Amino acid sequence: MIRGKKIDLVAVSMNYLPNYHKWINDPDVVDMLGHFDLPISLEQERKWVEKHLSGNESEKIFTILTKNGKPIGNIGLADINYTNRATTLGIMIGEKNYWNRGYGADAISTLLEFAFDTMGLHRIELRVNGNNERAIACYKKCGFKIEGKRRKHGYYHGEYINEIWMGILREEWDKMEKKESKKG
Ligand SMILES: CC(C)(COP(=O)(O)OP(=O)(O)OC[C@H]1O[C@@H](n2cnc3c(N)ncnc32)[C@H](O)[C@@H]1OP(=O)(O)O)[C@@H](O)C(=O)NCCC(=O)NCCS
Repeated sequence: MIRGKKIDLVAVSMNYLPNYHKWINDPDVVDMLGHFDLPISLEQERKWVEKHLSGNESEKIFTILTKNGKPIGNIGLADINYTNRATTLGIMIGEKNYWNRGYGADAISTLLEFAFDTMGLHRIELRVNGNNERAIACYKKCGFKIEGKRRKHGYYHGEYINEIWMGILREEWDKMEKKESKKG
């Protein structure tokens, strides 16, 4: 378990299969993710869990629990490259009544600390739909910078939208951490 301030990150578990299945089929939750074909059957979701139970060098997926032990979403690192020490971050808070309450930012900051300080990574990047304002605000709050955009990359409710690329480097994270500890 990796402890954050508002959340803990734990391994993917078959115990949470009903939660994963509910989240991945909720159109509001996956609306901005852009690459899901609803509906996802329980069997398909079970296969996803099975795949992640055995772990994998190039991916680390966690379930986000509140401090009361309630599962509210998943977060992970994909395409981990140990030569470049770089990876791609993804997150989904599946319980909508937990949006806008700082859980996403805490889960991301907790994972960034793990990735930089424990795994020794150097760069973390992500991609987000240009109209996902909440996610972009959350990523900026966590220290990500906009690095570029792919114009009209995704098709969303009848129009083409931009995909924004964001990234954070270890030295930027270290500076933020120092600022925080000075405040404290
Ligand atoms: C994106 C997501 C991870 C963010 O997590 P969260 O817990 O809701 O985010 P936080 O509360 O930590 O931060 C959200 C910030 O966005 C701001 N925000 C919300 N809606 C906004 C909008 N329309 N425009 C600008 N800012 C907005 C909030 O005010 C908050 O900033 P603040 O703390 O400075 O006030 C979560 O909402 C989620 O999983 N959504 C569905 C799936 C998804 O979009 N995943 C990301 C795919 S790239």
